[in-house]
Amino acid sequence: MAKTNRESTEGGAVPAPAALQHHWLPFTVNRDFKTDPRLFVRAEGVYFWNHRGDQVLDGCSGLFTCAAGHCRKEISRAVARQLEQLDYTPSFLRSHPLSFELAERIAALTPADLNRVFFVNSGSEAIDTAMKMCAAYHRARGEGHRYMFVSRERAYHGVNLGGTALSGMVKNRESFGPGVPGVVHIRHTWLPENRFIMGQPQHGAELAEDLQRMVDLYGGSNIAACFIEPIAGSTGVLVPPKGYLQRIREICDAHNILLVLDEVICGFGRTGKAFAAQSFGVVPDIMTLAKAITNGAQPMGAVAVRDEVYDTIVAAAPPGAVELFHGYTFSAHPAACAASLATLDIYQREDLFSRAAELSDYFLDSVSSLADVPVISDVRGFGMIAGFDLVPDAVPGARGYEVQKRLFDAGLHIKTTGDAGILAPPLISEKRHIDAMLGTLSEVLGNYVVK
Ligand SMILES: Cc1ncc(COP(=O)(O)O)c(C=O)c1O
Repeated sequence: MAKTNRESTEGGAVPAPAALQHHWLPFTVNRDFKTDPRLFVRAEGVYFWNHRGDQVLDGCSGLFTCAAGHCRKEISRAVARQLEQLDYTPSFLRSHPLSFELAERIAALTPADLNRVFFVNSGSEAIDTAMKMCAAYHRARGEGHRYMFVSRERAYHGVNLGGTALSGMVKNRESFGPGVPGVVHIRHTWLPENRFIMGQPQHGAELAEDLQRMVDLYGGSNIAACFIEPIAGSTGVLVPPKGYLQRIREICDAHNILLVLDEVICGFGRTGKAFAAQSFGVVPDIMTLAKAITNGAQPMGAVAVRDEVYDTIVAAAPPGAVELFHGYTFSAHPAACAASLATLDIYQREDLFSRAAELSDYFLDSVSSLADVPVISDVRGFGMIAGFDLVPDAVPGARGYEVQKRLFDAGLHIKTTGDAGILAPPLISEKRHIDAMLGTLSEVLGNYVVK
């Protein structure tokens, strides 16, 4: 049993703030929320406590962030120590020792020679940074004309301008104008014949040929990079069919297209290895990371690139010149580096990536039992992440929204997107927590009558 996975009966109601109107919440139905707020006031291990004093089981590791469970003292103490010693360092022309230590630790976890690590503050920043690196890399090779990016339908690559352009979700795009030019989308990998399959489906590798069609249509020499979530997480956990990622890699190689794997959700053990690249046996040129990099205790993201990408960009700059005109005030913030180092220590000490691999069969088998619930139309998953689809109500997304509220009130926190539910429990979870999660899901979802 993981030491911090204690249960506490301490709850304690805390009054909701009197004025709720000033905080504009992201990705939230603000008008509804403010009439019936759902606030967390405390967390520990696999649990949150809400402001009414109820214990809420965390079925989504916060937002795929808190893989090692909540409120790990090792992390909060490391952050506090760091803030007392060195609260801030400018990140341009300056740094501090922990940023180098952390980059080395991350490089030791990444596959092959993805040895160069650039720090940012979120997954969205990691994506936009990776897009710029791809452009800079090709320019340095004398191929600055490669202006196109390939992404996929149902992709979620964050919310900055580049990531919005890459995203394949209509709601995330339709209000925001034309966005970044040169982005094209290939199909997602969800297929009706793969419904109710856990693990990688046998069918669907041929969907990778969509990338070849983009090459044939636009010219491979115009495409800078292909961005792929190894498992598309936010739109409901779409697991890549067997052979799909390998074929994408082959097509990229044939046309010097960079392959960017967005590991913001999959990274740091979610698939049973450090990164999904390793679980699926594919080496990308660039990986984007965030979320569990600090166990959610500090905002941080990173972009890991192959030596050749770094070397090419750096070598193209004249001596004495900045090589990449890009960075953030809070890149490699000392407190975030301290949090991440303490997090990686926990992952290693508690062997949490192996633990995820061991717990995966039990988790996925348990989630499979939802197939018998009438309102469920599909269940799928890999490692310690699973998704389910609800039969939609009259308005698409309405049922998903309602289910999420009902589950919260019944003591379970999960993420929903439209009518899809996403489960990604902390990697320290025990079988009894999985049982409790499925118990609440079956009870709440079992109440829906589907005609
Ligand atoms: C695959 C993927 N990429 C990027 C992002 C954006 O990360 P952030 O919300 O930290 O900006 C997310 C967030 O969920 C994500 O799932």
